[in-house]
Amino acid sequence: MTRKVLVVDDDAAILEVLAMRLGAMGFDVTPVGEPRRALDVAAAQRFDLALIDLRMGPMDGVQLMEALHAQQRRLPVLIMTAHGTIDNAVQAVRRGAFDYLTKPFVRDELRTKIERALTTRRWARDRERLLTVGQTLASSGIMERVLDSVAQATVEATEAERCVVFQLERGRLVPMASAGSPPPSWEALEAAAATAMEKGVPITSSAGGDGEVGTIVAAPLVVQRGPTGALVIETPTRVEPTEDDLELLALFSSQAAIAVRNTHELERLRSGALAALGRMATQVAHEIKNPLAGLRLYARHLEQRLSRAGDTEGQELASKIAAGVEHLADVVAEITAFGRPPELHRAPTNVHTLLDECLELAAARFDTTALEVVRGWDPTCPEALMLDARELRKAFLNLIVNAFEALGGSGRLGLMTSYATDSGTITVTIEDTGAGMSDETISRAFDLFYTTKPDGTGLGMSIARSVVQLHGGELTLQSRLGHGTRVQVRLPVVAP
Ligand SMILES: Nc1ncnc2c1ncn2[C@@H]1O[C@H](COP(=O)(O)OP(=O)(O)OP(=O)(O)O)[C@@H](O)[C@H]1O
Ligand SMILES: [Mg+2]
Repeated sequence: MTRKVLVVDDDAAILEVLAMRLGAMGFDVTPVGEPRRALDVAAAQRFDLALIDLRMGPMDGVQLMEALHAQQRRLPVLIMTAHGTIDNAVQAVRRGAFDYLTKPFVRDELRTKIERALTTRRWARDRERLLTVGQTLASSGIMERVLDSVAQATVEATEAERCVVFQLERGRLVPMASAGSPPPSWEALEAAAATAMEKGVPITSSAGGDGEVGTIVAAPLVVQRGPTGALVIETPTRVEPTEDDLELLALFSSQAAIAVRNTHELERLRSGALAALGRMATQVAHEIKNPLAGLRLYARHLEQRLSRAGDTEGQELASKIAAGVEHLADVVAEITAFGRPPELHRAPTNVHTLLDECLELAAARFDTTALEVVRGWDPTCPEALMLDARELRKAFLNLIVNAFEALGGSGRLGLMTSYATDSGTITVTIEDTGAGMSDETISRAFDLFYTTKPDGTGLGMSIARSVVQLHGGELTLQSRLGHGTRVQVRLPVVAP
């Protein structure tokens, strides 16, 4: 967008030269030779910047600036002054000018000061927009999404080259979300994040790089007791952020922090409610378990009798009843098992064999002819890990079945492992190019009985997660509607 610059000078020659030079820099210039007319012009349209000569009559530059500011509070003004009248120029800055320019103009000075004035203004202009964006952020329930929108909104609002949100995870700063172009180096950004967290206030540092010196600004993300991360932006040009800018970033990062805290809170509430619901479900399941076993038996009896009597229609009906009861019994068995987390029986287990087995079991239930199934086993992964194979089989099977279900017969299923010696963990990735999940489903996938499938019970994900957590591990979920899903299971390695 072409930026509009108002130039006011009662010296026609200077006005003409300036208009030419600014025009050559790509600005849309409105030259005005008379201060009072400048007010009319500015009332009719908004400008991005004003260059005003200090010495004019009948109204001098400072008076004109103040009158313009009365119309447009944030209009950045550069006051032009001849050598020797610097004192007045300084005075003008005190009264609200962004900066001053001395005549005759030095080419670079003109360009730099104009650019700075424009950049600063952009930040200030977006202040209010930021606030609104920040508030809406707090309503989403999914952490990754929240942080993504924080990063995105920050880049849009500040027109920074990039924004990265760091979070402290197990004592390390991890980039959780980013927007804008990918950084040439993470180190400077990470260092800025660390300093901001340490100091507890926004900080500015220079980005360095090949001759072109940019600026990095970082604001700590303070959640409850202390900083849990930082919001970092990088601008390609040298911008001197003002107090205002830093405050703005702090404001934004505090919005992000609120969002993070809300998400934590929501998770806590959810798991509390879930625990209660889980207890109730187990009791109910327990109550219906015995009658169900009876029903199953009667249905089978009936089926046999009708078969002997040659009543095939009746026999079919009885068999349907039996199948229905069978299904109910399975559900009940799962619920009761879920209610009491089992003791783990760890034994030397080969994860790859286990996964192969689960894949085979799951694949047997689906038509896989049009599916591409890719396995990538990490050869450095230890042969035998102390895991509860029985429990983990349940978890992996559920996840793989979900993937097959999401694929609906076509696409790609990937099963990968990777072993990290330093952290002593093995990560199993199960990803599909299937239906993906909506935001609502992502946030509820682990809720007991949450299902989007006509025949689903909505237990698979909760079972998988509870098994993984029992192993001291972590299950994470990434999904995009229409694109696919990736589930990662990270298990700490316990040597035999
Ligand atoms: N790989 C996946 N792709 C898309 N959606 C998924 C995937 N895995 C889980 N989901 C969503 O999460 C919901 C909950 O999954 P979960 O495994 O807990 O239950 P379910 O598959 O519906 O039923 P079941 O108890 O039979 O497994 C699913 O209904 C589905 O909407
Ligand atoms: Mg499932």
